[in-house]
Amino acid sequence: MTVHDVRPAVELPALPHWETTPENLKAAIAEIKPALRARIAASGRTVEEIFAVLETRITERVEEIEAAKTRGEEVWPVIDYADIEAGTVSAEQLATLRRRGCLVVRGHFPREQAQAWDAGIVDYVEQNHFFENYRGPGDDFFGSVGSKPEIYPIYWSAAQMEARQSDRMAAVQGFLNALWKSESDGVRWFDPDRDSLYPDRIRRRPPGTNSGGLGTHLDPGTLDLWMTEAYQKAFRHLFYGTVEEYDPYDAAYRTYGPTYPGSTMCSAFRTFQGWTALSDMDHDQGVLHTVPIPEAMGYLMLRPLLSDVPDDDMCGVTTNQVFPASEQWHSLLLRAVSGIPDVRAGDSVWWHCDMIHSVAPVEDQKGWGNVMYIPAAPWCPRNEAYARKVLEAFLEGSSPSDFPAEDYERDWMDRFQREQLNQTGRRGLGIA
Ligand SMILES: [Fe+2]
Repeated sequence: MTVHDVRPAVELPALPHWETTPENLKAAIAEIKPALRARIAASGRTVEEIFAVLETRITERVEEIEAAKTRGEEVWPVIDYADIEAGTVSAEQLATLRRRGCLVVRGHFPREQAQAWDAGIVDYVEQNHFFENYRGPGDDFFGSVGSKPEIYPIYWSAAQMEARQSDRMAAVQGFLNALWKSESDGVRWFDPDRDSLYPDRIRRRPPGTNSGGLGTHLDPGTLDLWMTEAYQKAFRHLFYGTVEEYDPYDAAYRTYGPTYPGSTMCSAFRTFQGWTALSDMDHDQGVLHTVPIPEAMGYLMLRPLLSDVPDDDMCGVTTNQVFPASEQWHSLLLRAVSGIPDVRAGDSVWWHCDMIHSVAPVEDQKGWGNVMYIPAAPWCPRNEAYARKVLEAFLEGSSPSDFPAEDYERDWMDRFQREQLNQTGRRGLGIA
């Protein structure tokens, strides 16, 4: 695949860029912000003008969501898996999905299948003495007090691999990928019909849990979103003043560039983040919330360029920490925070990769809160490169390189084996 530039008619002021993490972050921020402002000014509009366009568009969405809540309507779109499989999702459902950028797939897997996977994971970790050998959280992101983990750094159970390579998973991933523009300017940025099987962890949160939750944040990157050449091109409409053309579903330039390393990074390009429920979870039991407005990313990217933000500050974004969404800078967006409806074992939950999300706190949780994290990470140059590392980790039973090197499963019994891969699994790992 060749990546070429789309040259605008006028000569634009050049942007400095850093393909690896800048040594002096504050100096780099102080350098990129005026350069981005100058680039926008070259379009004939000020940062304030283009920000106002986005703010108006997003305010409408926020008010629409607030009104839906007042009427007691569900904000999150819910679509039956059967309709996805049969191709009978209505145009109206599709429009709502695109607008909200998040989705619950009802009955993605049969309930009994999900419950059997949950039991299978328990058997797998118990027979391999995981709890006796557990050394505590390998990173502080999901860290919790107590000796039993909530997040299991387990990647290669039969349950996870069966779900990752299943036809039902491929059908939903393909359906969600199709919301994106995967081809433009003669380049195919990703293959919507081939997933890269991004391996992630498991969460099993027992009844009675007290949890402070996770604050509003987003996961696609940190300072690299403003500072690498590929991301500067991906967000070209924001950084030039053609803000009306900014499309959160445009994959152009998003699937090949570098990302800055960090403890919470994801090397892969994901169209949607997602998880599959392995237990029933009611909406008030410490569940996922999002700001269901995909265009909010434009707001987050432009907000630091306004004059009330200090010159060396990106509204609190820095490397090695998640990208925060805060009351201080993003209060308009946070008015729209909306939780998932009740989900049942076998449902799956998805949200656009740029979307602000949080996990609500819970006290004395009712029932289990068990999920397998499985996103939609379609085949593209970035995911192909990561898949090579994933294959190695899979064959060894190691932790994938995006995660702490805890490597619990190397000599575990009943780890999923290469011979058990089907065609989807082999394609996802780059060996077919
Ligand atoms: Fe996150």
